[in-house]
Amino acid sequence: MAVLDASQDRIEVRPSGPLEGSVIIGGAKNSALKLMAACLLVEGTFVIRNVPQIQDVAAMADVLRVMGVSITRDANTLILQRPAVIEPVAPYEFTEKLRASTAVLGPLLASMGHATVALPGGDNFGVRPIDMHVAGLEAIGCRFEFSAGQVQASVDNLVGDHVLLEFPSVGATENIMMAATLAKGSTVIDNAAREPEIADLAGFLNQMGAQVSGAGTSTITVEGTQELYSAEHTVVADRIEAATFLATLGVAGGEIILEGANHDHMAILCRKLEEMGVRTSSDPSGVWAMCQEPLRAVDVSTLPYPGLPTDCKPLLVAMLSVADGVSIVTENLFSERFRYVDDLVRMGADIRTEGHHAVIRGVDKLSGTTVRAPDIRAGAAMVVAGMAAEGVTTVLDVHHIDRGYEDLVGKLSSLGADVRRIRDDRSV
Ligand code: UD1
Repeated sequence: MAVLDASQDRIEVRPSGPLEGSVIIGGAKNSALKLMAACLLVEGTFVIRNVPQIQDVAAMADVLRVMGVSITRDANTLILQRPAVIEPVAPYEFTEKLRASTAVLGPLLASMGHATVALPGGDNFGVRPIDMHVAGLEAIGCRFEFSAGQVQASVDNLVGDHVLLEFPSVGATENIMMAATLAKGSTVIDNAAREPEIADLAGFLNQMGAQVSGAGTSTITVEGTQELYSAEHTVVADRIEAATFLATLGVAGGEIILEGANHDHMAILCRKLEEMGVRTSSDPSGVWAMCQEPLRAVDVSTLPYPGLPTDCKPLLVAMLSVADGVSIVTENLFSERFRYVDDLVRMGADIRTEGHHAVIRGVDKLSGTTVRAPDIRAGAAMVVAGMAAEGVTTVLDVHHIDRGYEDLVGKLSSLGADVRRIRDDRSV
């Protein structure tokens, strides 16, 4: 999993004709990372298939390795060997790159009874606290101390209880679900997050011998067991990667197949895309999509699953920048997730933001310039905008895109997009 230093690489995007062909959608980043953390629960050899080759997975692998887990990769299959004894400490130099590193807390508490985890970095949009993780884990017997940028957690006996989440937090639901697998008695998580990645994690935990039911609904019940075993699993398709290709289709037009994608996991997004002029349907091999008309403006509002994912919002904002009419986009999850808008405005987009809202007046064309990828999805949105722009758009800070996308440029090129990656000589 050695990776080139891609920090100075850039992506050049030029307008292209309609997209055509099919592209394979990889395993979901947001599931793979949690499945990897779940391997901390018990000694043994785990096999996880369909794991994307992305930087966030490499960062999670580093977090687990520093604790003593050995990890090898064969193409998109990860083999994790979790020894009997591990060091339940995740230092800052390993967590700073990855907010999802907090997912080790639940499994470490359940298997070791204690954990020290440096508070992580990752995407930098707004304050992203872990108070709901803490409250939920406290409800089943854990104790927490925060000092010097790290959290020290411990538990004598995990005892199942009723946990009512203030908000259906994805990370909190997962941490509590993982910890509860080895608790005494049953834990009921109410107002649980319902994302497909949570159902995927529950499926993996059940393969390990856990008894989790209701994942994918807002009430999850975990009957604690005394013993878990290693397991094998295939990661669910990445609905946000699929959404990214749908966004590029929206601005370039054409007809594509997203192999392995699951239409049911993108129902509200696909309904919005339909209103905008992008047709989609379930296909035996995944999802079929076509766009043959100019995009139309729509209003969108992000919500927890099954609502419109916040991770899709920058992609939609890029599309709506060139749609016919005025759109209002409302962000309900992350307060400062409009930072990339300044670069879109520099490309000629007419977008005004106020608090949680953006008002977008569609323009005919954007114009290419140099922009930055501020985080994973907004970075991909810059590529989408570049496909809707005259001239050349150069996207810098490509390492953010690499955190969440396996070969975005190669996959887009295979569909006919004029996108290329320029390697930084200094990194070779
Ligand atoms: C996960 C995804 C992220 C996605 C998000 C929402 C991963 C690695 N990341 O992030 O891509 O955008 O779900 O779908 O899976 N919050 C608190 N206290 C907490 C926990 C969360 O206030 O203890 C707030 C957050 O700041 C945010 C909201 O709740 O405003 C939603 O966060 P959450 O669902 O927990 O997202 P993540 O698990 O961090």
